[in-house]
Amino acid sequence: MKTKTKAKAKAKAYSNIAFIKYWGKRNASLRIPVNSSISMNLSSVYTLTSVEFDEKLKDDKIKIDGSISKGVERERVIKHLNRIRKIGKFNIKANVISRNNFPKGTGIASSASGFAALTVAAVKAAGINISQRRLSTLARLGSGSACRSIPDGFVEWRKGKGSESSYAYSIYLPNYWEIRDIIAIVGERKKKVSSSEGHKLVSTSPFFKSRMQFLPKRIQRIKRAFRDKDFTDFGKTIEEEALNMHAVMMTSKPALFYWLPDTIGVMNSIIQWREQGLESYFTLDAGPNVHVICEERNSRKLTDKLRAVKGVKQLIVNKPSIGARLVG
Ligand code: DP6
Repeated sequence: MKTKTKAKAKAKAYSNIAFIKYWGKRNASLRIPVNSSISMNLSSVYTLTSVEFDEKLKDDKIKIDGSISKGVERERVIKHLNRIRKIGKFNIKANVISRNNFPKGTGIASSASGFAALTVAAVKAAGINISQRRLSTLARLGSGSACRSIPDGFVEWRKGKGSESSYAYSIYLPNYWEIRDIIAIVGERKKKVSSSEGHKLVSTSPFFKSRMQFLPKRIQRIKRAFRDKDFTDFGKTIEEEALNMHAVMMTSKPALFYWLPDTIGVMNSIIQWREQGLESYFTLDAGPNVHVICEERNSRKLTDKLRAVKGVKQLIVNKPSIGARLVG
């Protein structure tokens, strides 16, 4: 950045739900995953972040959800700003103000939308001009799942061979398929083990190797379901995948349990309603909340029924959304 004037930009990025999960890294510091993953951006859960590089600042100032960021969280943001300063070949400190419209640490991925918004805003504020593919690669270095919040709609993150080739791209635009993700919030407790820590444990699970063996076929199957808009096969595949990832988590050493009793209650209701002809499927990330995936025509009925399930505190209905954008 050559100018002496202040440079400021603001971006909005949506969280995403993985249908094929990212769980395990081939390279931890570069966040290169052991497998490709597939996700959908979520219209109702997002982060808004403004970044201002200001020569008057002696230190980076980071505020997340109204509080000054400290410790590991602050270090992670600074590390990301440093990546951008390195590309821009300057060393001006930044004022970062970020706001999530959902609670942190609930299993709704704040790191995904957070690092996607931070990347887009900081790159723009730094006056750097790069492709969407490079934005995605850069966001990945902040948090793996963040690379999937850069492109629009339904997204694949190619695991890649190295850092440059590990990025996400849009496989279908948001309006391709009218499906919904109703997030049933059953717990708002901050999780004990972050996903960054959890990733390190995958190889300690005896089931990890067999998960790896099944994944290429499962990825093909989900892509076929997308192409044919075969909701039943799509749903079966994503449910199988979520349970598979959680089986690896639960059999890691130490074991990781992200579910609460009410999580299982919601999952059972989904299965029961399905047997009665109301079709939906569940998926879960590293947290207790259940993402209920359904076709738009069943969304209303399912929200009414979910509201009455024990332990459900809140419902967040999401449409497929666009990716990260600069905002005014
Ligand atoms: C279970 O992207 O949070 O949500 O790269 O260490 O920041 P880091 O991990 P993160 O992991 C997300 C794991 C997951 C599955 C997924 O979103 O694919």
